[in-house]
Amino acid sequence: MISRRVQGFTESVIREMTRVNNLYGGVNLAQGMPNFPPPRELIQAAHKALDGDFHQYAITWGAPRLREAVAAKYGKFYGMDADPEQNVTVCCGSTETMMSTLLAVLNPGDQVIIFEPFYENYGPGCIISGAEPVFVPLDPPDFGFDPDRLRAAVTPRTRAIVFNSPNNPTGKVFNRRELRVIADLCLSHDLLAITDEIYEHIVFDGEGHTPIATLPGMAERTVTISGISKSYSVTGWRIGYAVAAPEITLGIRRAHDFVTVGAPHPLQEAAVTALTLPDSYYVWLREMYQAKRDLLLGLVESAGFIAYHPKGAYYILTEAAHLLERFNCTDDTAFAMYLVKKIGVATVPGSSFYAHPELGRT
Ligand SMILES: Cc1ncc(COP(=O)(O)O)c(C=O)c1O
Repeated sequence: MISRRVQGFTESVIREMTRVNNLYGGVNLAQGMPNFPPPRELIQAAHKALDGDFHQYAITWGAPRLREAVAAKYGKFYGMDADPEQNVTVCCGSTETMMSTLLAVLNPGDQVIIFEPFYENYGPGCIISGAEPVFVPLDPPDFGFDPDRLRAAVTPRTRAIVFNSPNNPTGKVFNRRELRVIADLCLSHDLLAITDEIYEHIVFDGEGHTPIATLPGMAERTVTISGISKSYSVTGWRIGYAVAAPEITLGIRRAHDFVTVGAPHPLQEAAVTALTLPDSYYVWLREMYQAKRDLLLGLVESAGFIAYHPKGAYYILTEAAHLLERFNCTDDTAFAMYLVKKIGVATVPGSSFYAHPELGRT
C-alpha cells in the first residue's frame, strides 16, 4: 500500500528511543530537546502575538518582520549581507527548510555528498528528492575528514555537499581550514554547500562558529540553514529559515509553498523577539551548555565509556565496545535497549548515524 520511496524509512531511532524511555520512565538523553523553558520575553511575545491579529496565513515565505530580523542577525553575527526580500525563507523548522532546499536544488539522479556519521534526516531528504547520497567519513577522535577522500567522492553527478556544524552526533565544529577545503571544492566543481547550522550558538571552549557562506565566493553557492529550536529552547514552535542566493531562494520558496504553505504565523511574530535578544543571552546559553557538557562528560567517563569530547552542539558520542562485551549485548541497539530498560537512561544507538551501520556498532 505504501510507496517504494518510504518503504525503506524506519521509525526515527531517536524518536523511538524517546518512546521506549517514556514507557520505562527513564532519563531521556536521546532526543535533542531542552528540558528548561525558553526565555520569559519569548513566552510573553508569543502571548502578545496570539492576542494580536496574526491568526491567518503569513506570507508563504515568512512574515516580513521575521525575515528582516533573520537578515539583521546574520549581518550582526557574521557580517553576512542578506536581503529579507531576496535571500531569506522561513519554513517549519530547519527540518522542513532542509527538505524544501533539497527539493529545490536536486534533480533525480543527482548525487549529494554527506559526511558520515550524520543527522539521520539527511538520508531520507535526499531519497525524497530522488538524489543519491554519497558518504565521506568523519574519523574519530577529532572527526576530521580526509580532503583527498572528499575530492574523490565528487563525480559529474555531484550537485551539493550537505554538512552540519556544530555537528550532531560528533560535537565537531568544522574549522576554517576544513571549510576552505569544502569551499574550494564547491567553487572548482560548481557545487552547492548546504549547511545545517542549528547549533550555531552552542560552541564551547571560546571557539566561534563560522558559516561557510562567509568564505570568499561562497555566498552565491551556499544555503545556510538554521532556526530557533535549539538556540532558544523552543523545539515545538517549528520555526526555521534559509539564507541563499535569490535564484535558489526562489526555488526553496516554491518547494516550501507546496510542502507546508507556511510556518505558524503568531510564532513567527514571537520569533522576532528571540532573534533580537541581547548578546548576553548567547553568553549565558554557551556557558550553561558548557557546564552541562563538562558535568555529563565526567559522569559518562566515570561510568566506563570512552567519550569523544564535543566542541559544540549538545551530544556526546562514545566508544563502548568493552561495555557491549561486558553486558553481553550483541550490538549497539541491544546495548541502548539495555540502558533504557535496566538502567533508565535513553541514548541513541551509534549505528543510526551511519549509512554503513557496522561503522557505528560500538
Ligand atoms: C542537526 C540537526 N538539524 C536539525 C534538527 C531539527 O531542527 P528543527 O527543530 O529546526 O527542525 C536537529 C534536531 O535534533 C538536529 O540535530
